[in-house]
Amino acid sequence: MSTRILLLGAGLMAAKHAERFAEIPGATVVGVVDTREDVGAEFAKTHGIEREFTSLGDALDWGQFDAAANVTPDPVHYPTTMELLAAKKHVLCEKPLATTFAHADEMASTAEAAGLINMVNLSYREVAAMREAARMVAAGDIGDVRYFEASYLQSWLTQDAWGDWASEPAWLWRLSTAHGSKGVLGDVGIHILDFATHVAGADVDTVACQLKTFEKAPAPGNEAYAPLDANDSAIMTVALANGATGTVNATRYASGHLNDLYLRIFGTKGGLEVSFAKNTSALRYCATSAMTTATWEDVPALDVPTNQAVFVKALTEGGEAMPDFRRGAALQAVLDAAEASDLDDGRRITLG
Ligand SMILES: NC(=O)c1ccc[n+]([C@@H]2O[C@H](COP(=O)([O-])OP(=O)(O)OC[C@H]3O[C@@H](n4cnc5c(N)ncnc54)[C@H](O)[C@@H]3O)[C@@H](O)[C@H]2O)c1
Repeated sequence: MSTRILLLGAGLMAAKHAERFAEIPGATVVGVVDTREDVGAEFAKTHGIEREFTSLGDALDWGQFDAAANVTPDPVHYPTTMELLAAKKHVLCEKPLATTFAHADEMASTAEAAGLINMVNLSYREVAAMREAARMVAAGDIGDVRYFEASYLQSWLTQDAWGDWASEPAWLWRLSTAHGSKGVLGDVGIHILDFATHVAGADVDTVACQLKTFEKAPAPGNEAYAPLDANDSAIMTVALANGATGTVNATRYASGHLNDLYLRIFGTKGGLEVSFAKNTSALRYCATSAMTTATWEDVPALDVPTNQAVFVKALTEGGEAMPDFRRGAALQAVLDAAEASDLDDGRRITLG
């Protein structure tokens, strides 16, 4: 029997989940929940989904699904995932897993105790060049990692390729701490932290952070989102458990970049440069033998499965569902420490 998936949330990102699940033989999206009835109905029609609900409670009363993809706004992840886990449903949750480490940790512990498949949608695990870079670092191809520079560049505050941030709810909630947003730090800072530390093969030991928010206001009629006080740029310097140090930066003001990630990572025996720009991934390598001439070669990378495919495989065949909630919680601890550092004038904070 096909694995039955419930989509929780029918906004921008949910469309990607629906398309991805539709590509997987053995998985069917059987229902969608959105608190905005019209949005949910339109989404169900577009994606050919049979059932639609306006509350998770109604979907749970119906109950005819095995697993859920939680694609609600960040502050909704914790309460709704806890409800899903209590009902013994497996969960693929959007990032950031929660808005605090305490909640993320509780989600991980609850899922583990219940023996449920739990996964966090850190989408850039699907970047082939990043996966190959992680493999090469683990294989010792650049020796001991010493230094790295990672950045996530977006520009939706300076141009409208994705719509108008001042009047569209999907962007407005991301700019408002009262709506649970952790700013660019929680929105995409988590992606680049995962990207850099996964490739480096070590967790964050200490972090110091500076956040920056520029003054801005919602368009008339959207005052409910004021003040737009969530951070727009985040600059972190981190030290990893393997001794390497590096910078991890994210901004919504990188005019000229829509959604690009870069990582340059250097070790005692070589260097790697990973990029994911304009949806294209590339990997360059300076091998030990090429270090004196600083010659770089392109490295081909193999295709990697989507996170949705990994999740369904774990459900149907018992494969590993990584990155899991435990990983999401570990990253959340870094985000919390980064926020605390910023509030304390950039003081370096050691993770517990
Ligand atoms: N992994 C990625 O690369 C990636 C990319 C974009 C967004 N995201 C994440 O996906 C999530 C959703 O982002 P989005 O851009 O789709 O936002 P969005 O605002 O477009 O969509 C969220 C939807 O959830 C609905 N909703 C709110 N509360 C709900 C509830 N209690 N029950 C059911 N539905 C509810 C809203 O009505 C809305 O339609 C966020 O956590 C975001 O960080 C991840």
